[in-house]
Amino acid sequence: MRHGADYVFSEEIIDRKFSQCVRLENELLGSIDYVTRDGYLVLRLRKEEKERFILQIGTNNAETACQAVDKLAQDIGGVDVNMGCPKKFSTQGGMGSALMRDLENAKAIMGALVTRFAGRMSVSCKIRVLRTFEDTLAYVLAMQETGIHWISIHPRTAAEESKVPARWYTVKRLLDTKLIKIPVLGSGDLFSPLCIHKYLSFTGASGCILARGAIHNPYIFKLKASLLNRSAKLVSTDNEDDWKESVCEPDPSTNLQQQEPKEEESKGPKKD
Ligand SMILES: Cc1cc2nc3c(=O)[nH]c(=O)nc-3n(C[C@H](O)[C@H](O)[C@H](O)COP(=O)(O)O)c2cc1C
Repeated sequence: MRHGADYVFSEEIIDRKFSQCVRLENELLGSIDYVTRDGYLVLRLRKEEKERFILQIGTNNAETACQAVDKLAQDIGGVDVNMGCPKKFSTQGGMGSALMRDLENAKAIMGALVTRFAGRMSVSCKIRVLRTFEDTLAYVLAMQETGIHWISIHPRTAAEESKVPARWYTVKRLLDTKLIKIPVLGSGDLFSPLCIHKYLSFTGASGCILARGAIHNPYIFKLKASLLNRSAKLVSTDNEDDWKESVCEPDPSTNLQQQEPKEEESKGPKKD
């Protein structure tokens, strides 16, 4: 956040973990720590960042989700439900990408969080794309209907690993329908300011979230102002072509041309 990110997410933390936690103000570090009774650190956040800190939870239950957020409400600016994680630790309990196969439960969870917390913090979820464009659109609209403030889309199916190019085209198609009224944040293969600029311009997304791009280079957020101005030419002393070749992988032009997932590409959640 010091480098210019607007918001920062925690990693996915399973909601039930917070039931065993106590809240400690760590004066030495100026942080707020949530620690289990046997001393295991579950979450540490900086006091001055808490309005822009979004807790991401893994959950399969509206009640335990609300209980976790209740416990942390004074320290966070938002809650996000991870519906994208394809890993077994998440899906085996009906969490992560498994929630995208259980629409009624996903709606119950988001609806309960909205009812309880929407006046105090942002409520959102992060999804992947489903097997067909129509299914993905229907899912996003169902989430919108619950009253969430915004949604993040990682445009790969749950079966796809990060070596498969992110489906920027699907994000664009979703937004082109004009049916989605809440802000959409995109993600996937955003490794440089140039990639981000192209992503925002091409898809029309309201913003983006970075994972690997931010891990590799936290300074990537420094160019935020120019990135968010879609019509602006990138302000940089670097040569754009150099970026394209050296930093932008995979080549964004591949993403722009890619087509919708074919049926045979999606074989359901990956078995880890
Ligand atoms: C090391 C690592 C940890 C991640 N942890 C989470 C997580 O806790 N919650 C989540 O929603 N996504 C998580 N992701 C997925 C990213 O948020 C993102 O959707 C995906 O990596 C695609 O974006 P990227 O191409 O910028 O990495 C993680 C990704 C990486 C590489």
